[in-house]
Amino acid sequence: MERPSAVSALEQQVKARPLPRHVGIIMDGNGRWAEIRGLPRLEGHREGSTSVREVARTARRVGLSALTLYAFSSQNWARPADEVAGLMELLRDFLESEYSEILDNGIRLNAIGEVDKLPRYVREPLERLRTDSAHNQGMVLTLALSYGGREEILHATREMAQAVARGELDPEQIGEKEMESRLWTHGLPQLDLVVRTSGEFRVSNFLLWQMAYAELYFADVQWPDFRAEAFLRCLAHYQQRERRFGLTSAQIQREETQRAKA
Ligand code: FPP
Repeated sequence: MERPSAVSALEQQVKARPLPRHVGIIMDGNGRWAEIRGLPRLEGHREGSTSVREVARTARRVGLSALTLYAFSSQNWARPADEVAGLMELLRDFLESEYSEILDNGIRLNAIGEVDKLPRYVREPLERLRTDSAHNQGMVLTLALSYGGREEILHATREMAQAVARGELDPEQIGEKEMESRLWTHGLPQLDLVVRTSGEFRVSNFLLWQMAYAELYFADVQWPDFRAEAFLRCLAHYQQRERRFGLTSAQIQREETQRAKA
């Protein structure tokens, strides 16, 4: 289908400038989207799945290296059983229906979180897609499933403590590298941008370690309404930010001038 010209123009503009290496999205507001319309919450999640497809396709088209979607948190297990089951079925449907699209577009599907807690009917298509797309070199699409940032940091800390107990790791040597090599995101590019929809200003246990220097963007729409254009706008917004990593604006500008001269 032909994309409206304003969106195509925005896409071209975004493609022409440096992109964030890795974007993480907290897809919030599905429940409210449905409730406002007098629909069951699951209808919001279903409509949210369409946003997942559209945003992932747009990310691939503009050439993003990595996109991580917060699809199910460690805390979401405590939701009503029928909502959890409905979300699991949507995940399975997504993994099955997107199989060819993911492989044909050079996308590598990845998952982070305590995936062994997922039901078998989700784990199996997930593992199939992970294995079959493992050699793809395009974008890495990571689903955070049964994921929590604190849980991830605890897991890495436990692994380091075990390595210390075995005499393989000197506590004095523990630095960022030792931690990062044990995080579930190991091997993914640095997280440059975190987006949250639904107009709320929280990070909700998402990529806590990785977020240290990420830019944050809060979109005032519910996730089911966050489609290609909204995503492109947020990338364009990111491209106008100055990232300082603790330095001053003058230092950053000097570095950029020196880089341009080199
Ligand atoms: C938060 O909205 C969203 C979730 C807990 C689930 C996200 C799941 C999807 C977008 C669909 C399935 C995922 C994939 C990858 C196909 P909420 O329910 O907390 O919204 P509320 O705050 O308005 O209640």
